[in-house]
Amino acid sequence: MTLRTGITAAMFTFYALSGVTACAPTVPLAPAPSLFERLGGMANVRAVVDDFVSQVSADPRSKRTFDGVNLSRLKASVTTHLCSLSGGPCKYEGDSMALAHRGMALTPEELNVMGDYVDRALIRRGVARTERDELKAILDRLAGEVLNK
Ligand code: HEM
Repeated sequence: MTLRTGITAAMFTFYALSGVTACAPTVPLAPAPSLFERLGGMANVRAVVDDFVSQVSADPRSKRTFDGVNLSRLKASVTTHLCSLSGGPCKYEGDSMALAHRGMALTPEELNVMGDYVDRALIRRGVARTERDELKAILDRLAGEVLNK
């Protein structure tokens, strides 16, 4: 055994015996906060939903489907839905998106009006761009289940 291979073998034995490896974390990492937490938790999600549902159900461009709808019940249901979608502790047990919007024939324009009100409500509650974009991406993925039903 040369001097160099001897040193290498000794180092290998030391690391193997001491359990040290190059990438072993010494402190457990805290789990990354969910989008729900970063949106400000239940109080903020509820306030955002209260805000944008009030706006979208009153705007002449988007109010036609809200005739006779119980807004308090709708707000509660949408709050639970968004809580669940963003990784919060809620379990959404309402209708599927396709069923909830069946017969409404919602258009991309109406969806855009709603999206703008969601974004403005988030801004009013101090939610940053990254979180707003994450929520928008989640809602965009549901567009196909909501439009033209
Ligand atoms: C991705 C977009 C959307 C999502 C995630 C969404 C989510 C929901 C949820 C969770 C409910 C409650 C269903 C239940 O309680 O069983 C609901 C109902 C409803 N949504 Fe949406 N919605 C979206 C887009 C829209 C748009 C663009 C409009 C109109 C402009 C709209 C109008 C309504 C109405 C009127 C109801 C009440 C239906 C009823 O109670 O008869 N939604 N939506």
